[in-house]
Amino acid sequence: MSETRLPVVYVCVTCRRAGEPEAEPRPGALLAAATERAADGTEVEVRRLRCLANCTRGPSAAMRCNGSWTYVFGGLDTVNAGALIEGAKLLAGASDGILPWRGRPEILKRALIARVPPIDFVESDL
Ligand code: FES
Repeated sequence: MSETRLPVVYVCVTCRRAGEPEAEPRPGALLAAATERAADGTEVEVRRLRCLANCTRGPSAAMRCNGSWTYVFGGLDTVNAGALIEGAKLLAGASDGILPWRGRPEILKRALIARVPPIDFVESDL
């Protein structure tokens, strides 16, 4: 595991909300702005990007640290910005690189779309 484990949260700025009329700014952009505000003064870096390929279940965001698993979330709202930052801090503190279930903000349980292992991960018992 790398010694540098600064967490990064990626927020898709192009996400729309399924079933809602076109709106500007897009819900994804609003989530990005809220997440940046929530990260202010923390060690969490927020990066904007275009599309996490989770468009039908947006607004979408992902988080990871060096050596950690990567977590993708969907169906988010601006009120979840603080939870994203809280989760990223939890992930950064997890020595096994896995976002702990205990203490994880509820929305990061319900809104989880997928998790992807770090590149050097091998399931040892398969
Ligand atoms: S537009 Fe946000 S995941 Fe594709």
